[in-house]
Amino acid sequence: MFGKLLDYSPEGQLITLRYEKQTAYLHVLTDKIINVFVPYASKEHRSKAIEGDKEQSVSFTLEKIVGGVMLTTSFLSCRISDDFKLDFYDKNGVLLCADYRGSRVPRFTIQESLIELMKQEGHDVHLTHCTDYPVQCVKTLDKNDCIYGLGDKTGSLNKRYYEYENWNSDIPDPHEDSFKSLYKSIPFFITLKEKGIYGIFYDNTYKSYFNFGKENDGYYSFGSDNGNLDYYFIGGSSMPDIVSSYTYLTGRMPLPQKWTLGYHQSRWGYDSEETFRMIAAKLRECRIPCDAIHFDIDYMERYKVFTWNTSRFTDPGILLSDLKKQGIKAVTIVDPGVKVEEDYPMYEEGIANDYYAKTPDGATYVNAVWPGDAVYPDFGNPAVRKWWGEHLKFYTELGVAGIWNDMNEPASFNGPLPDDVVFTDEGRQTTHAEIHNVYGHNMAKATYEGWKALTGKRPFVITRACYGGSQKYATVWTGDNQSLWTHLRMAIPQQCNLGLSGVAYVGTDIGGFGADTTPELMARWIQTGCFSPLFRNHCAKGSMDQEPWLFGEEVLSIYRKYVELRYSLLPYFYDLCRVCEQTGLPIIRPLVLHYENDINVRNMNDEFLAGESLLVAPVVDQGVTKRLVYLPEGIWYDYWSHEEYRGGDYYPVDAPLDVCPIFVKAGSVIPKAPSQMYVGEIPDPELILEVWPGEGSYVHYHDNGEDFAYREGAYNEYLIENKGNCEVNITKLHEGYKDYPDVRIKYIGV
Ligand code: GLC
Repeated sequence: MFGKLLDYSPEGQLITLRYEKQTAYLHVLTDKIINVFVPYASKEHRSKAIEGDKEQSVSFTLEKIVGGVMLTTSFLSCRISDDFKLDFYDKNGVLLCADYRGSRVPRFTIQESLIELMKQEGHDVHLTHCTDYPVQCVKTLDKNDCIYGLGDKTGSLNKRYYEYENWNSDIPDPHEDSFKSLYKSIPFFITLKEKGIYGIFYDNTYKSYFNFGKENDGYYSFGSDNGNLDYYFIGGSSMPDIVSSYTYLTGRMPLPQKWTLGYHQSRWGYDSEETFRMIAAKLRECRIPCDAIHFDIDYMERYKVFTWNTSRFTDPGILLSDLKKQGIKAVTIVDPGVKVEEDYPMYEEGIANDYYAKTPDGATYVNAVWPGDAVYPDFGNPAVRKWWGEHLKFYTELGVAGIWNDMNEPASFNGPLPDDVVFTDEGRQTTHAEIHNVYGHNMAKATYEGWKALTGKRPFVITRACYGGSQKYATVWTGDNQSLWTHLRMAIPQQCNLGLSGVAYVGTDIGGFGADTTPELMARWIQTGCFSPLFRNHCAKGSMDQEPWLFGEEVLSIYRKYVELRYSLLPYFYDLCRVCEQTGLPIIRPLVLHYENDINVRNMNDEFLAGESLLVAPVVDQGVTKRLVYLPEGIWYDYWSHEEYRGGDYYPVDAPLDVCPIFVKAGSVIPKAPSQMYVGEIPDPELILEVWPGEGSYVHYHDNGEDFAYREGAYNEYLIENKGNCEVNITKLHEGYKDYPDVRIKYIGV
């Protein structure tokens, strides 16, 4: 297709490759990251995920070799051949990733005559599963390659043998393992080989397709309907190294406010001041720690964003300040769809300033969401983002503590938005087809920046839709799950893959959003959910209520036990957030992230790590009170009984309803907090250091948990060395914040 390589010319770290029929570029960004760019649609990259110049000055060589050119950095090599075939090697010359050269051979075909018949029964049949897209790349697969990442896609942790699409989709039907897309589009994946590992970030916002060996066992492909072939090949020595480079490129989750890591109570259906007061009172009466209650769409007047229904909420400011006195903050939902209504300031102002998406012939584009007919703010326009951000004052002035952006795929009730709806991208006119997958990203950016300017605090923004890089602006949840055991199970690989895709601050609707939960499911869900960074019980209108006190005494006390566990672990979770901001490593981690050479964990769907020290093996099946737990290499301790286990094996473990099997890695130091009903109830809590048998070291971080003063050095960092046999050394690595009033060391197992 490209023809013969005619010549190549480096300019700085950018290499222009002139082929007979096409010009392409390789850009050496770091010794581990090489950008591959074919400007089919535009000369510019136009990335929404990558902000700023990521080029680090590195040396590399370009050498003419038989049949092409060899580009070599200190870490990677790339052999460039005719037809723009690229083969990447590690620094020892081991082949990591080769472009596929053969012809496409689908593993199966269906007789054309059968297709129509099958469609009549409702089957979704493709002729061959072998499609050529206008923008496409095909690479070889080795026998034991595993593939991870790709954001919130359902199904197994290892994506090998499956196909997916990136097209942000609001799907309220029960999510299935076979779904090709959901709310988020994160075109990043990691290929773990028998020997070696690499990542690819395919930066294309158009509808995109990933076929990871379903079409043929020998190759995989990614491609799109339009745009450029623009991908970043990322080499690294380990999976954490790859995640770190990917998040160097697309950004990292900024340190959140500490309270956001507490428990959140939510429900679509809390629709009056009385209800909110009752829920808060009940949480306190039942001694369930809680930091926030969420206000879903019912707080608004006829679902008009930036309004409050004053007949059901006589004075929201007073309500919010009363909740605050109990240590409970308010998070309000703000959807993008603005109701079409005369004299509604948001609508009128946006129309007057041309801030909404248009039809190709210049009229304001109208579809429908909760408020009925609605228009779509053009968040690709910086002026719209600023305008929207400034309007958030409506919420900050009332004392709202965080914003929940929903329906920003963007969702639409009146059929999908046509591809040609006109949006802009930083001043350039473009279409829905290009902007769709970054609509939620741009909205989250507007919210984050607006909130930061208004409050000076670390913004708490939740978004349902996102793209690669959205982790810089928002936390996410996995959308409208259901109260099904399969969904409890599915959330583990889903959250793990989001984490590997840079999105560390994740959670699911605990108890399930749609359908009705049961006491047993609720008990199991809170046990797993208390390890999700975003820790929220949320459910749908029309579903049975699922507040913790509605399932009887036994479940209430189990619920309390795990919310309390989470609150005790808050310093640990906060440390993980700090690590994430510095390295990009997620909070919830698949075992394969730290034990990539252990083949037993490459397809591990029902266990996960919280940081490096805690291994969680929750029960995700009805009626199960014992389960098999795999522990990777090393010594592990049962969190509850302190019993010692030798890793590298499977163990049957008891898990009665009130027990979630948790294991602690030998030598761990776990920082803990004393029991509190909300973050800040004890203004200066002591620090409890749980020191587990074995040797290890740990860095603990401490700051005011709210603003950006830490970026000017207002924090403390302590190195805690566990020398074994009840000997611990604490050294201050950084001093810029007040000390703990007390540090209590608790030796485990003595
Ligand atoms: C969407 C959201 C859900 C919310 C509902 C009403 O379905 O995913 O969380 O409760 O809209 O706003």
